[in-house]
Amino acid sequence: DSTVKQNQDEFPSLKNNLILRACRGEPVERVPIWIMRQAGRYLPEYLSIRSQNSFFDVCRTPSICCEVTLQPLRRFDLDAAIIFSDILVVPQALGMQVDMIAKEGPRFAHPINVPADIKTAIDRTKQASVELKYVYDAITLTRHALDGRCPLIGFSGAPWTLMSYMIEGKGSETHSKAKKWLYTYVEESHDLLQFLTHFIINHLVEQVCAGAQLLQLFESHCGCLSHDLFVRFSLPYLRQIAKGVRDMLTRRQIPFVPLIIFAKDAHYALDELCSSSFDVVGLDWSITRRQIRTLREKYPSVTLQGNLDPCALYASQNDLEKMIKQMLEIFGPKNYIANLGHGIYPDANIDNVKHFVDTVHRISKDMIKH
Ligand code: CP3
Repeated sequence: DSTVKQNQDEFPSLKNNLILRACRGEPVERVPIWIMRQAGRYLPEYLSIRSQNSFFDVCRTPSICCEVTLQPLRRFDLDAAIIFSDILVVPQALGMQVDMIAKEGPRFAHPINVPADIKTAIDRTKQASVELKYVYDAITLTRHALDGRCPLIGFSGAPWTLMSYMIEGKGSETHSKAKKWLYTYVEESHDLLQFLTHFIINHLVEQVCAGAQLLQLFESHCGCLSHDLFVRFSLPYLRQIAKGVRDMLTRRQIPFVPLIIFAKDAHYALDELCSSSFDVVGLDWSITRRQIRTLREKYPSVTLQGNLDPCALYASQNDLEKMIKQMLEIFGPKNYIANLGHGIYPDANIDNVKHFVDTVHRISKDMIKH
């Protein structure tokens, strides 16, 4: 633990802490912005690295991982970097084989079908600190390479999203195989979600020890859950993670970092999310202006993040600018982090990405001055 603190002291000092101030509700001179999946296939320099390396080799090689994490920051005036990794490194760490198939996405070699499969599929003795050391090494390297330019975000998938991948074995429209567990293997589902929760807490805390200055938890599969299923099988574990990360950081005497929850398509649970002790609630692009205004009134101290439709980047710069202005007016410049309402698409227009970032900065600077 003393070596961890030493490392933290040795990191270059931060020149741009806008996003950290926005998380704490402190005044900012302009609205901070980062973009979900900002490192990725819309960048030719990323594709060039991917043509030489498999997806998970990029994740597992700290020097390459650091390079692709920094790529979007060379092009755009972003206020945060996010470490290049994937939510599926967790099931891999537990012993499951996951491959990234071109033009298809992730695929598990041996998904879990019934509870009896869990014993052979996952090894409960595995430690995040050992299995995912490559993530932490990449974070430390990247934190140094950033040279204090902006904070570095660490992340993890949330328990329900990971459990549903482990059962479905690949992307799914309905997640009906995974949802079947929630109706037929209730106890076994809770047991798996609880196990994943402990592992995820460790994974997030290790990322902070390695140098992550902000954490985002991705609960990407809320769209297939009813409010009732969400409250029973997702929310309790999200809450445990927020509390567990805070408690473990305190025990290890590591300064607290802000926590972001991005629960995609959880439009039915915004109240629960805003009262779950996360510092920031990420909103997807389906959340309406009226819902945002209501959240602002009810939860003035919660920082909101989002929520431009990734497809808005296909619009003309003139139309894009109008949508950005509207977004900034609805959220207001305080307690706000601008972002897309989901990850950027591979065919996004790079000039429009730059226009998005610069326009958020320019308009919000004006709003704050006047
Ligand atoms: O945001 C960043 O720049 C950091 C890196 C990051 C990736 N995946 C890189 C990636 C992050 C934060 C993720 C999170 C992730 N991964 C989520 C949660 C966010 C969400 O989209 O809801 C999920 C569900 C995954 C699982 C995953 N990984 C899928 C479904 C896919 C395939 C879909 C696609 O876009 O192709 C991936 C692959 C992936 N993860 C890529 C990248 C850059 C593209 C793979 C490639 O280079 O071939």
